[in-house]
Amino acid sequence: MSAEREVAEVATEAVGDAHQLRSLVLTGFGCHDKMKLKSRPAAPPAPGPGQLTLRVRACGLNFADVMAQQGIYDRTPPLPYTPGMEGAGVVVAVGEGVNDRKVGDRVMVLIPSGMWQEEVTVLSTQTFLMPESMTFEEAAALLVNYITAYMVLFDFGNLRPGHSVLVHMAAGGVGIAALQLCRTVENVTVFGTASARKHEMLKENGITHPIDYHTTDYVDEIKKISPKGVDIVMDPLGGADTAKGYNLLKPMGKLISYGMANLMTGPKRNLMALARTWWNQFSVSALQLLQANRAVCGFHLGYLHDEVELIDGVVTRLVALYNQGHIKPHIDSVWPFEKVMDAMRQMQEKKNVGKVLLVPGPEKEN
Ligand SMILES: NC(=O)c1ccc[n+]([C@@H]2O[C@H](COP(=O)([O-])OP(=O)(O)OC[C@H]3O[C@@H](n4cnc5c(N)ncnc54)[C@H](OP(=O)(O)O)[C@@H]3O)[C@@H](O)[C@H]2O)c1
Repeated sequence: MSAEREVAEVATEAVGDAHQLRSLVLTGFGCHDKMKLKSRPAAPPAPGPGQLTLRVRACGLNFADVMAQQGIYDRTPPLPYTPGMEGAGVVVAVGEGVNDRKVGDRVMVLIPSGMWQEEVTVLSTQTFLMPESMTFEEAAALLVNYITAYMVLFDFGNLRPGHSVLVHMAAGGVGIAALQLCRTVENVTVFGTASARKHEMLKENGITHPIDYHTTDYVDEIKKISPKGVDIVMDPLGGADTAKGYNLLKPMGKLISYGMANLMTGPKRNLMALARTWWNQFSVSALQLLQANRAVCGFHLGYLHDEVELIDGVVTRLVALYNQGHIKPHIDSVWPFEKVMDAMRQMQEKKNVGKVLLVPGPEKEN
């Protein structure tokens, strides 16, 4: 869809919905009724210096948003707040000093929070131009998952030809991004944990050995196939799984911790799971690392928002990979703002394969 056509559509939308702008607001933790859909009177956009305003077309739902809703995420702003760290839309106004964006540009956005609204004002440095052929849904699914997978695999993991990688939560947004990125390097063996019904789709995205962790001990399975272990462990689980991953590393292997999914076991906060995960927290001394020839790294995109050049560089490489056809976000489902809690349940109940999205507009078939 061309930029000109988008501008026309946005104008029509703005006329049809001129009085109110809707946003999702989290007003408390844990309960379904604490997520509110609020409206405010629409006013002409007035972005400040260095800012731009966009009409939002699609937003990403991330595991962190689901954890935040339960009150177990470490980067949560004070209540009440509008969640959402990524999305895509069309620029409707630019502020003073913004020379590299113009009205009508299609952009994707990465911000600490505040994306889940019909219109949002952000710093222009928090936006990235979308490639011509990219849809808004793909753009809303790209940034958090692919930046994370890219930096974990290449910047910390130093992924090289011939390496072997363990990808947990392989059928999630980051997991599928990681599989596609592993395919850009020659002869990489990918072990991945996921529910059995998701394995066919994972094979299409390049997994070598899918493992159903519900029925199989993944450590035993990997040791059977690769007795020496693996070169890189991507660890989004935390708790007891971090030690298991560490013990699977070959000499010169790296474990990158980037999540604590074991804290969450379903739609309600589970105090037992919280206690168990913290109790089983992995720790290792510098001397142990030295003697084992291994590395343990930590990655959290939420603490990199000020590193504009670093993130810009990664997004430029991701856009090139997208344009070359090497990566393509896999969309699981798209939900209207009204159904945000159903969208969250899709992840909490492990139903999703790929990215879950929210859209301000009317409901779509899922
Ligand atoms: N550090 C960072 O900057 C950063 C950025 C993005 C994401 N992350 C982390 O990366 C991990 C994956 O995120 P994502 O967005 O890719 O997730 P996602 O798309 O929501 O993946 C969900 C899938 O993971 C599997 N899963 C395994 N354990 C789970 C659990 N305890 N609860 C729910 N699902 C579980 C389920 O599939 P199966 O049926 O196959 O088990 C589920 O369908 C999370 O830990 C997240 O916090 C970190």
